[in-house]
Amino acid sequence: MKTLDQGKFKGKTVLVRVDFNVPMKDGEITDTTRIERSLETIEYLRDHGAKVVLMSHLGRPKGEAKEEFSLAPVAKKLAEFLGGPVQFLKDDQVVSPDVKNWVKELKEGEVALLENTRFSKGEESNDDAFAEELASLGEVFVNDAFGTSHRAHASNVGLAQRLPSYVGKLVEKELKAFAPVLTEPERPYVAILGGAKVSDKIGILENLIDKVDGLVVVGAMAFTFLKAMGLEVGKSLVEDDKLDLAREIMEKISDKDIEFVLPIDVVVAKKLERDVSSKVVAIEDIGTDLAGFDIGPQTIERIKNLLMTAKTVVWNGPAGAFEIPPFHKGTEAIAKALAESPAFSIVGGGDSAAAIEQIGLADEIDHISTGGGASLELLEGKVLPGIEAVERSRNA
Ligand code: 3PG
Repeated sequence: MKTLDQGKFKGKTVLVRVDFNVPMKDGEITDTTRIERSLETIEYLRDHGAKVVLMSHLGRPKGEAKEEFSLAPVAKKLAEFLGGPVQFLKDDQVVSPDVKNWVKELKEGEVALLENTRFSKGEESNDDAFAEELASLGEVFVNDAFGTSHRAHASNVGLAQRLPSYVGKLVEKELKAFAPVLTEPERPYVAILGGAKVSDKIGILENLIDKVDGLVVVGAMAFTFLKAMGLEVGKSLVEDDKLDLAREIMEKISDKDIEFVLPIDVVVAKKLERDVSSKVVAIEDIGTDLAGFDIGPQTIERIKNLLMTAKTVVWNGPAGAFEIPPFHKGTEAIAKALAESPAFSIVGGGDSAAAIEQIGLADEIDHISTGGGASLELLEGKVLPGIEAVERSRNA
């Protein structure tokens, strides 16, 4: 791994890809975790005499400059965390003659942030011309955007192909945390997969079947499995085109020595609404009119027991609609059980990580990944292009 301690940054303009793709509501940042987790790299580079130029995407503006996706609020928040100025190089073209001049004027230890890289059409296509423009701004590249490392875009892969490159402190920590799980997890190794769709988790399901001792499927995706088993799931969310796939996965699991846990009871209601009237039923009793929005207490108990004996746990995706009470309890219970479990625990994915933060248990978990898609792809056994490109980059 090409880490920061191998680089020389004094007096250099260092381009740093961070993942400031933070959740926003009404122009306000609702979770600053990704900004806070980038501070160590920024401080390190400042302390080593670099002129720091940060870049990130925010949302999916699809190659057009749209005010709602501007990084302006992020620049403000970052300045608060750093306790000093961050120059926001606001330009809808991302790189322009003005931006180049502003960057030239930066002094050692100063920090600047470019506008959303996805305002340029060249970002997601890793277009040569856009990558050249970005690269022209600096002399060294640091990839500290773990959450974007499964994408091959101009601001990560394009830059690593053009400049001497390193991974930042955040990426280094992420890769070190995942390494034992990917190579030699301490057993029993349990994976908990939740979230809405089976289709989002096919790759990881198929990959984990060969690796885990226990597999828990919760969240709305569990209803596709329950329906595939022939159960009536009422109005619960089901991907009908994935029923065969769910059956195939269950067949593969039955050939292995895996403890497979699906919900045995669920919380049902007429609709997904805050404080709506709800009840707990066994999965055989969902009926035709109601929908399941969370796991029930018996399922929680089973998961807890599994977690207490596990040595490694990976969790990706909530157990229910946790942001809408009364459907938060399953996710909350898993978070608490994970905090109490002696296992080495990794939480990946925006929603499950947000749930842990919300409940205030972040300090009890061994590693909370800043990457949703990126952590899934890593666990699927894939190579992350943003990381690979840094490894292959030329030396300074
Ligand atoms: C994420 O939030 O998972 C990353 O920032 C990547 O965002 P994307 O899925 O829009 O590429």
